[in-house]
Amino acid sequence: MNHLTRRPRRNRKSDVIRDLVQENHVSVHDLIYPLFITEGQNQTVAIPSMPGISRFTLDRTLDEIGQCMELGIKTFAPFPNIPEAKKDRFALESKNPEGLYLKAVSEIKRQFPGVILATDVAMDPYSSDGHDGVVDNGEIINDASLEVLGQMALAQAQAGADIIAPSDMMDGRVAHIRNILDKHAFYNVSIMSYTAKYASAYYGPFRDALESAPKHGDKKTYQMNPANSREALIEAELDTAEGADYLMVKPALSYLDVIKLLRDNSNLPIVAYNVSGEYAMVKAAAQNGWIDGEKIMLETLLSMKRAGADIILTYFAKEFAQYLKK
Ligand code: PBG
Repeated sequence: MNHLTRRPRRNRKSDVIRDLVQENHVSVHDLIYPLFITEGQNQTVAIPSMPGISRFTLDRTLDEIGQCMELGIKTFAPFPNIPEAKKDRFALESKNPEGLYLKAVSEIKRQFPGVILATDVAMDPYSSDGHDGVVDNGEIINDASLEVLGQMALAQAQAGADIIAPSDMMDGRVAHIRNILDKHAFYNVSIMSYTAKYASAYYGPFRDALESAPKHGDKKTYQMNPANSREALIEAELDTAEGADYLMVKPALSYLDVIKLLRDNSNLPIVAYNVSGEYAMVKAAAQNGWIDGEKIMLETLLSMKRAGADIILTYFAKEFAQYLKK
C-alpha cells in the first residue's frame, strides 16, 4: 500500500464537515415561482401534465401568493390563460387594463406590496396564431412585433410590474422596451431578458397550461437551435448592450453548459428557467415510484446553482420551501 497523503474523503467524513465545505446552496431567496392565472372566480384547475401545479382564478392566486409569502417565496412570474375568443393577430387583449392579466398584476401588488412580480412579455398567450410575434403570411415579423411588445411592457409597468421579462426572442426587444419604459419614467422597472431561449420540446406542459401552442409552424425562426452555444454569447452581448438587468437561459437542465457559459462571460445576474417539461419528467417518474422525487428536486435545483445560476424560475419553488420548513 502506498502512503496516501491526499485523501479527499476527509472532507466528507461527517454531516457537519460536509456542510462546512459545501460550495453551493439553494435558498428560497433564489427562487421565482411561476403562476398560471385564469378568468373566473373560486376555481383551481389542475394541469394534468404538471402534477401539483394548477391554474388559479385571481382570488385563488392571491391565496396561493399568501401561502408562498409565509414560506419565504416573494417573487412570482404570472402567466395568463386567455380564452380563445379574446385572442387575435395583434394580441390586443394584452393591453386591456380591464383584462385578466393587468388586473391581476395590479391587484396582487395592491394586496401584497412586498411581492416582486416578473411579468411575461410575449404575444403567444393572447395570439390567435399562438406565436410570440406578429404573423404575416406564415412569417413572424420582427419589427411589427416590437411595437406590440413595447406597448405590452408599458401596460404591465403601469399596472405595477417590478420586472419586465420578455420571453419572445424578437431582435432588439430589450432596447425597444427599455426606451419605452424610460420615456414614461419607469426608470426603476427592470428587464429580465430571456436571453438564450431555445426552441425546445420541454415547453409542452406549459403550452397545455396556457392553451397557447402555435396553431401552425414552430418557433424555430426566433427561438435558438438547441445545437448552439456560441450563439448564446451573441444574444447575451446584445441584451447587455440594450440594457438588460438579468440574463436568462431556458430551458435549464439540458442547458447547464449555457448557464455556465453566460456566467463566465457576464457579470449580470444569471437566471435559469427550470421549465415545465423538466418538472413534468421528475413528477412522472416520482409518481411511478421510479425515483425519489424530493431528492431529485433538490439535486436538480442545486445543479443549476452549481452551473452558475443566481436565480431559478421553477415550479418546484413552493414544494422546495415546504421541504425546508419540515
Ligand atoms: C412563451 C413562453 C413559453 C414558456 C414561457 N414563456 C413557451 C414557448 O416559448 O412556447 C415556457 C415555460 C415552461 O415550459 O415552463 N412566451
